[in-house]
Amino acid sequence: MSPSTDDRKLTDSLAEARYLVGKARSVAVLTGAGVSAESGVPTFRSAGGFWKGLSAAQLATPEGFAADPKLVWEWYNDRRARLREVRPNPAHFALAELERRVPDFVIATQNVDRLHQTAGSRRVVELHGNIHEVRCTRCGETTDRCGVALPDEPKCERCGAWLRPAVVWFGEDLPVGAFAQAEAAARASEVFLVVGTSSAVWPAAGLAHIARDAGATVIEINPEPGSAAADLVIAAKAGEALPVIVGPAA
Ligand code: OAD
Repeated sequence: MSPSTDDRKLTDSLAEARYLVGKARSVAVLTGAGVSAESGVPTFRSAGGFWKGLSAAQLATPEGFAADPKLVWEWYNDRRARLREVRPNPAHFALAELERRVPDFVIATQNVDRLHQTAGSRRVVELHGNIHEVRCTRCGETTDRCGVALPDEPKCERCGAWLRPAVVWFGEDLPVGAFAQAEAAARASEVFLVVGTSSAVWPAAGLAHIARDAGATVIEINPEPGSAAADLVIAAKAGEALPVIVGPAA
């Protein structure tokens, strides 16, 4: 049986991406929930992204937390517990390998799961914070509680106020400096990879446009691509496409 037109298109776009990434001296990457999907972490805008009938958009807001902090913590504790069971997938490992080869390399991730770092990536900008740290809503003290099970009503040991996950909620500003760092990397990149994001949330989604306007080739990897800035689209799962694009570890 001869390969279908779609298969040939995918093979060609993978080969082109492999060529472009292979010769680039500067690569920046924007990742979203899709990069962790093959590790078993549900994405935000999929059916599995709902919890007790509530969407992430209803739970991950300052208003949602103010209305019912215990409910929001139950959701985060559920996600934190699941994350203790998951491991990076071939997409995370391929990006960690790419970092070892490319002189200028940065991952700007919207994910809060730290799976890039677990896979060995070092230059990671966490645009939306991370789920392992907690921050006091009154005194601001931030502590890393990675791997620690928290109660559903966690309070600050110092001042007794509610703790919150050190993540960025809808309507909140990104961590100081994080976007500036990601923007600088996007501007400096020859190749900008957009991996596993619906490109629905700004300012993160704008990074691909910034990179393209500054002269980068933007490559999107997503079974359901959606970035308007992409020059080259690879309609495939990240865990299948990235190992092909990056190639085996040296
Ligand atoms: P979304 O859930 O919006 O999008 C996930 C994307 O991953 C979709 O475009 C899927 O098609 C794609 N996808 C699914 N499986 C994939 C795979 N195996 N390989 C590659 N792509 C795959 O998640 P994000 O774009 O990350 O923000 O969402 C952005 C932000 O919205 C999140 O960081 C979060 C959320 O609300 C905050 O919490 C502030």
